[in-house]
Amino acid sequence: MSKIIKDAAWIWKNGDFVPWAEATLHLLSTAVQFGSSVFEGIRCYDTARGPAIFRLPEHLRRLRNSCRIYRMDPGYSEADLTEACCEVVRRNGLSACYIRPMVLRGYGTMAMDGVGSPIETYVPAWEWGAYLGADALEQGVDVCVSSWQRAAGNTFPGMAKAAGHYNNAQLIKLEALANGYVEAIALTTAGTISEGSGQNLFAVVDGGLVTPPIEGSNLAGVTRASVMQIAHDLDIPVRESIMPRELLYVADELFFSGTASEVTPIRSVDKIEVGDGKRGPITARLQERFLSIVRGEHPNNHGWLTPVEEG
Ligand SMILES: Cc1ncc(COP(=O)(O)O)c(C=O)c1O
Repeated sequence: MSKIIKDAAWIWKNGDFVPWAEATLHLLSTAVQFGSSVFEGIRCYDTARGPAIFRLPEHLRRLRNSCRIYRMDPGYSEADLTEACCEVVRRNGLSACYIRPMVLRGYGTMAMDGVGSPIETYVPAWEWGAYLGADALEQGVDVCVSSWQRAAGNTFPGMAKAAGHYNNAQLIKLEALANGYVEAIALTTAGTISEGSGQNLFAVVDGGLVTPPIEGSNLAGVTRASVMQIAHDLDIPVRESIMPRELLYVADELFFSGTASEVTPIRSVDKIEVGDGKRGPITARLQERFLSIVRGEHPNNHGWLTPVEEG
């Protein structure tokens, strides 16, 4: 569950640091009026070599892609933003934390396109624990299928991680919470499985992994790609396939993947138990390897960790 977070001291803003409380926007900023903000969610882990950011280049590449899709030039290179992410962790004295780079259209024009508003870039970071609750990683979560669908292809670009898209994600999540679930799985407008409100989805069927393709409704998750690579490392077959809704009720195992959710088992969908209602063995193997990599404990980490001290 989301919680009130502990403020950090500093936020990186357009190349400088400002105190947390001073990183404010005008009410009539284009981002506030029309949702013109693209962002990333990145985890930094506490490792034996100090804080290390998980898959920073891939997150910054996706941020760049989101900027391109929305015709926003952040004015900072990936090298600049790499340094900003490392420095915001160092300067705030953080170890395990969440980093949220944001590129947005600020205050300037009232026009909906926002072209006359300045592009502003921020990098906040804060301490953050388990997203779906402390027990979720072990016990799994109870979810439902949402009555809200993900946006159809060529409406909201699924490959962009843009704030406006999260109105749909909020509807999915709010409905789930109102009905007593922790999360929901949304379908595409074709009625096939898309993803959670802020997580990708995997099923285990006949000893192998299946996940929906990136087809315009779902985000190309960095954790999703990591899970697919780890499955490969562990000789677990993995394929991308259109998945009918009912697969959720017959799969041997199901789990979410995401920066916030990491690898979270799903123990029931619409009150139908997944498998025997516990974290399944393949989910457990993938989760264990994932967590040992992000904590800097596994030797084969694919170079996925950027230590902030050397950043
Ligand atoms: C809608 C949505 N899908 C999937 C994900 C998982 O992506 P990642 O693994 O890159 O965090 C996220 C989280 O960023 C998300 O917001």
